[in-house]
Amino acid sequence: MKLLAHILCLSLALAWAQSQDHALAVLDRCEGLEMDAVAVNEEGIPYFFKGDHLFKGFHGKAELSNESFAELDDHHHLGHVDAAFRMHYEDNPTDHDHMFFFLDHKVFSYYQHKLEDGYPKDISEVFPGIPNHLDAAVECPKPECDEDSVIFFKGDDIYHYNVRTKAVDEKEFKSMPNCTSAFRFMEHFYCFHGHLFSKFDPKTGEVHGRYPKEARDYFMRCSKFSDDSDHVERERCSHVHLDAITSDNAGNMYAFRGHHYLRKDEGNDTLKADTIENAFKELHSEVDAVFSYENHLYMIKDDHVFVYRVGEPHTHLDGYPKPVKEELGIEGPIDAAFVCRDPQIAHIIKGQSIYDVDMNVSPRVAGNERPLTLFKKVDAAMCNSEGLKVFVGTHYYHFESPMILVGSRALPEQHRVSVALFGCDH
Ligand SMILES: *[C@@H]1O[C@H](CO)[C@@H](O)[C@H](O)[C@H]1NC(C)=O
Ligand SMILES: *[C@@H]1O[C@H](CO)[C@@H](O)[C@H](O)[C@H]1NC(C)=O
Ligand SMILES: *[C@@H]1O[C@H](CO)[C@@H](O)[C@H](O)[C@H]1NC(C)=O
Repeated sequence: MKLLAHILCLSLALAWAQSQDHALAVLDRCEGLEMDAVAVNEEGIPYFFKGDHLFKGFHGKAELSNESFAELDDHHHLGHVDAAFRMHYEDNPTDHDHMFFFLDHKVFSYYQHKLEDGYPKDISEVFPGIPNHLDAAVECPKPECDEDSVIFFKGDDIYHYNVRTKAVDEKEFKSMPNCTSAFRFMEHFYCFHGHLFSKFDPKTGEVHGRYPKEARDYFMRCSKFSDDSDHVERERCSHVHLDAITSDNAGNMYAFRGHHYLRKDEGNDTLKADTIENAFKELHSEVDAVFSYENHLYMIKDDHVFVYRVGEPHTHLDGYPKPVKEELGIEGPIDAAFVCRDPQIAHIIKGQSIYDVDMNVSPRVAGNERPLTLFKKVDAAMCNSEGLKVFVGTHYYHFESPMILVGSRALPEQHRVSVALFGCDH
């Protein structure tokens, strides 16, 4: 009897362990997941919902959705979100920047992660004329739609809901697949279906260009992509932030993201992509900052500096990696680094401070600390004959010099990395 109980217990434990494994395996977004719902939060960070989990941003692990939105659980035990969007209309102050979630016949309205009074409500009460059990929803402000609207998707039925008049206009989006989730990101509209997505015109549902494409190639940061993923196309058009970027003394540019990097040679507009592992084996992947100094690439990852002599192939110098503290006189990790007009000075960005390191002095020290007020966190920075580019998220900002960056009180024009730097069409 005791043995039987023991065996029973063991097999239960095994079953439990397997179910845990299963849950974890299913929730690797780099395996090509179909998301239930997608919406950006108040800060423009996309939230991808899958089952009772939530992925925030373009990389990182899934969290339980109820950790961010506790009440989603109370009324729904299946634990999934059908559709989500962020209301984003300046002249609708009561609902501006609220996130709406749809579960079966209920709608939840959150503002800064707090459920609004009186919610959840029936969908028919808040959005009359819109059916229950939706597949997807996305906000569509003027002039992207004729009126400030929300587009709802259920099967192949499309509803344009006028936020002001509450009028519902049923449409047919003939060339579009049925969306399982949809979102608006940087003024573009994306319909996800399975692990693919299509960019569409919100007024007509027309899809222009070569779609569908792999969702993880553009909206996720993965160490591995699908076998038929085109590395160059994916890396130049990805919306995921860069980790580091630099231009060597000859003017060749290197841009690093996750496990891959893009290279553009001086005088040649052709982009090439490769894995970091292939060209910078010792570094392997996920670099924090890279700068060029005297024909070497200084690559910083966590607490260490790797130094490669530029050439084909790049060669890693003996004695490296060394601690960042020993090599540059500052504690790692750092966010960005670049050399500008003064060829002896490496400028280091760490948090909201910028430092100068005189590369000719031994031991090197990070001095001349100045505050950076324009950005909370910088992803990467590069300086060449055109001036300084600072990279934050999907954009970069141009400054004449590090001094102007430090002195600026207003953000200059933002440029989209994919379009302005890599010549992608979106
Ligand atoms: C969230 O959901 C998990 C799994 O369903 C549950 O174990 C946990 O107690 C929930 N947490 C909250 C804060 O409701
Ligand atoms: C799209 O949804 C409709 C139901 O509205 C269904 O009849 C049709 O089969 C779906 N199409 C695909 C490709 O799943
Ligand atoms: C640019 O680079 C590509 C790819 O390496 C190469 O095929 C092409 O010949 C180069 N063009 C010029 C003008 O150097």
